[in-house]
Amino acid sequence: MGFPVQRMRRLRASEPLRRLVRETHLEPSQLIYPLFVCPGEGIRREIGAMPGNYQLSVDELVKECREVHALGLGGVILFGIPESKDEKASGAYAADGIVQRAVRAVKKEIPDLVVITDVCNCEYTSHGHCGKVVNGEVDNDATLEWLAATAVSHARAGADIVAPSDMMDGRVAAIRKALDANGFQRVPILSYAAKFASCFYGPFREAAESAPQFGDRRSYQMDPPNAREAMREIELDIEEGADIIMIKPALPYLDLIRAARERFDVPLAAYQVSGEFSMIVAAARNGWLDRERAMLETLIAIRRAGAQIILTYFAKDAARLL
Ligand code: PBG
Repeated sequence: MGFPVQRMRRLRASEPLRRLVRETHLEPSQLIYPLFVCPGEGIRREIGAMPGNYQLSVDELVKECREVHALGLGGVILFGIPESKDEKASGAYAADGIVQRAVRAVKKEIPDLVVITDVCNCEYTSHGHCGKVVNGEVDNDATLEWLAATAVSHARAGADIVAPSDMMDGRVAAIRKALDANGFQRVPILSYAAKFASCFYGPFREAAESAPQFGDRRSYQMDPPNAREAMREIELDIEEGADIIMIKPALPYLDLIRAARERFDVPLAAYQVSGEFSMIVAAARNGWLDRERAMLETLIAIRRAGAQIILTYFAKDAARLL
């Protein structure tokens, strides 16, 4: 029984009808807004490659978080730009490090805003790699100690969720063990479980001042062609104790979001990364794309693929439209 009995256009005739049969919804509570915190006071420095995003000092960050809270977003994820970098990534796990100070300030002013912290070393090492460099290579096991110490220091400052993004093997287990040993059994881990060595992080590295000074991240981040390996990465992270898993970037990896959704019953997040944001903004500035429509279409595509949480630099703009 096909045409003319079946007419797919019947339910597309008006916005109320389209709304009635819409299969996927986007809500502010599903969006996480990434923020960059830097030393100083009264600082709001726009990031060249990410228009509308800023390096913020702690006082400005708190203002921003009030706005995020008022918009009903799911939360924020914080990245730090430390006073100084060294070989040991000291700033990452210092009790009074930039992220630790920021978390304390935000949680004090806006206690019920969910604050997630990115746990990684690349913003804090002088060489810009995500781990300890030994004989020119990133040493996995030595890096685990730094990550565990960083996660504990974030939890101590009041972080609601810690999110390791370094792609070292065994980091979720190491972080879980350290959190538990320090009385933070209730702090969940959002693991960047399948994170690819992607060119789409380019603008972020300007924002976080974290470009590697030699080589690249391909010995720890995943090789873009590998889908089965992504499922193994996720499976291992769940076994190690990840509470939420994440795929990153988002739009070029929708197939993996769908595959992970079907395979794993844990909350699934996706990160619409800096390059995904900046290319839409750049095209819109040229008059080649409609900014709002491109934003909403990509976000709904990520939801439709199966991600229930989206980290996106569009979070505030999207929330205002929804
Ligand atoms: C830290 C980290 C990166 C991003 C999130 N956490 C950069 C990288 O791995 O080089 C990228 C986020 C973005 O591009 O928006 N390791």
